[in-house]
Amino acid sequence: MIAEKQILSRTRKFGKVCEILDRYSNDSAKLIPILQAVQEEYRYLPEEVLTFVATSLNLSPARVYGVATFYSHFALEPKGKYVIRVCDGTACHVKGSMSLAEVVMEKLNLDEKRRTTPDMLFTLETVSCLGACGLAPVMVINDEVHGQMTPEKTGTLIDQIIEMEKSYARNN
Ligand code: FES
Repeated sequence: MIAEKQILSRTRKFGKVCEILDRYSNDSAKLIPILQAVQEEYRYLPEEVLTFVATSLNLSPARVYGVATFYSHFALEPKGKYVIRVCDGTACHVKGSMSLAEVVMEKLNLDEKRRTTPDMLFTLETVSCLGACGLAPVMVINDEVHGQMTPEKTGTLIDQIIEMEKSYARNN
């Protein structure tokens, strides 16, 4: 009975992962797209999910973990709802992209070590060229590209998101 309950709660807990695995016919050759889909769902790859995926695909957890750590676009730590990527490629750097990152850090009380706010709303990352150098300096918030940014515009953008989240919280 207890075992049954455990299986049931495990299935519920990993329901979304099961759906994804089904979608890819539990095919271990599709490990990378499976991990991509799982990451879209959770915004990162929790360790227990990696183990679950490994077991379901008959792969060793070490193998799955190895793939997840090899590709830099997989995240093994939880990220905030808004992932702010500030470009520090050459074109952006010379146009002062680091001053954008500084504004973000100051506003959100982040530093070199603490890159995610405790309320899990924001994560700051610095990345190399985002492929939009003509718009330098560039920052991407989730999938939205913001070009020709200034520290002022960066601050306003963050304030707008915070306001939006507050009004969302008030209305729900
Ligand atoms: S250097 Fe920033 S987009 Fe290319």
